[in-house]
Amino acid sequence: MKEHKGFTGQLGFILAAAGSAVGVGNLWRFPYLAAKNGGGVFLIIYLLMVFTVGFALLTTDLAIGRKTGKSAIYAYQSMNSKWKFLGIFTFFVPVIIMTYYAVIGGWILNYIKYFLTGQVTLAADDACFSNFISSNSSVYWSLAFMVLTAVIVFGGVEKGIERVSKIIMPILLIMVLGIAIFSLTLKSTTDNGDLRTGLEGLLVYLKPDFTGMTIRRFLQISLDAMSQLFFSLSVSMGIMITYGSYVKKEVDLAKSVSVIEIMDTAVAMLAGVMIIPAVYVFLGVEGMSAGPGLMFISLPKVFFQMGPAGRIIGLVFFILAAFAALTSCISVLESIVANTTEILNTKRKSTTIVLSAVYLIATAVIALGYSKFYIEVSLPNGSTGQLLDIMDYISNSFMMPLIAFLSSIFIGWVMKPEWIIDEVEYGGKKFTRKGLYIIMTKYCLPVIMFILFLISTGIFTY
Ligand code: PHE
Repeated sequence: MKEHKGFTGQLGFILAAAGSAVGVGNLWRFPYLAAKNGGGVFLIIYLLMVFTVGFALLTTDLAIGRKTGKSAIYAYQSMNSKWKFLGIFTFFVPVIIMTYYAVIGGWILNYIKYFLTGQVTLAADDACFSNFISSNSSVYWSLAFMVLTAVIVFGGVEKGIERVSKIIMPILLIMVLGIAIFSLTLKSTTDNGDLRTGLEGLLVYLKPDFTGMTIRRFLQISLDAMSQLFFSLSVSMGIMITYGSYVKKEVDLAKSVSVIEIMDTAVAMLAGVMIIPAVYVFLGVEGMSAGPGLMFISLPKVFFQMGPAGRIIGLVFFILAAFAALTSCISVLESIVANTTEILNTKRKSTTIVLSAVYLIATAVIALGYSKFYIEVSLPNGSTGQLLDIMDYISNSFMMPLIAFLSSIFIGWVMKPEWIIDEVEYGGKKFTRKGLYIIMTKYCLPVIMFILFLISTGIFTY
């Protein structure tokens, strides 16, 4: 057991794990999906899923980590040597995500610069984002973000990750809350004289919109919610196994899972309150575009429209986004470092240095995917993308549902849920959702994950 390194206690662990979970996914992807999927309808489905599916997946990962004291590869191997392949497969998810996460982090840093130096008009320009990502400076910013991540991971679990999370997470929560409240006070008059208010925008977000609801559409919304959930909770990618392996035995796992779920979901929900009313007031609901477009194109326009206050709000927004991305990015690198030191039996610090060097190169390559290495590939799910989207597709749409499917078969039917439950109840702790956990792991997850896998890979269309 790794008694020498780990989180100092429950709070440090929860904030680090929540830091991994709360990332850019909460800030742009969740609000966008909610706006696209009938507001409140999506919110209700998502909430139901977090406390059933998300809860089961998160509990499984953390308990595997703590019980085995190892990262994915050796964790699965020590449970059952025939299932080592699942550990190896899981290890590759962070390996892939790490190639592009610092790139997004770098983009955020650049937008901090825009708002810090008052280049709001430039940031709000239609072509600004595409010009920027195809320029060399996007590569430099991405490398800077990678270096920042590497330095923190180099500092170690307690002195690096835990310390940074303990500072960043509370500030992030306050910032999100602050902008969300501000967003509700906004109003503007459209060209044809209509008054639009933030509170109306809030209604667009919260009110369930059942118009045109069919079973097919309902299914589609559920699938969107499900894939968002995975990404958002950082589950089925070995990261929570690694973090679990650093948790002390006296920590209450069931309670920690609840707090992490609540924090991650609260930030996602609040990001919606922060973004949707503001976009609604200044750009109308049509302003909610997909993907990075929302964060880097629509929002700068919104901040621009806010006038002088927009510069401050924009700055705060991008700083909080950088915080969110940073604590996620360190969890990805940490998981790779932990697995590698276990496989190669190397020292943590030297491993971190070597891996960081490798990822500096990878980050540069992916960042150049919009200029020098530009390619356009159609993905099996029907969209087209550049290098970054390809990596994102492989890890999120292909590997994660497959891993969740295989690991629920493994836990539900090979190891049996009791194996996990024993760990959660260790030292007489209470596991209130035990019954739910068993049903989810044995029956629901294998079926749901298999369907999600078939659909997100495009093997099955409906
Ligand atoms: N959970 C993070 C988010 O919501 C994303 C993430 C993915 C973090 C993979 C770590 C690893 O943005």
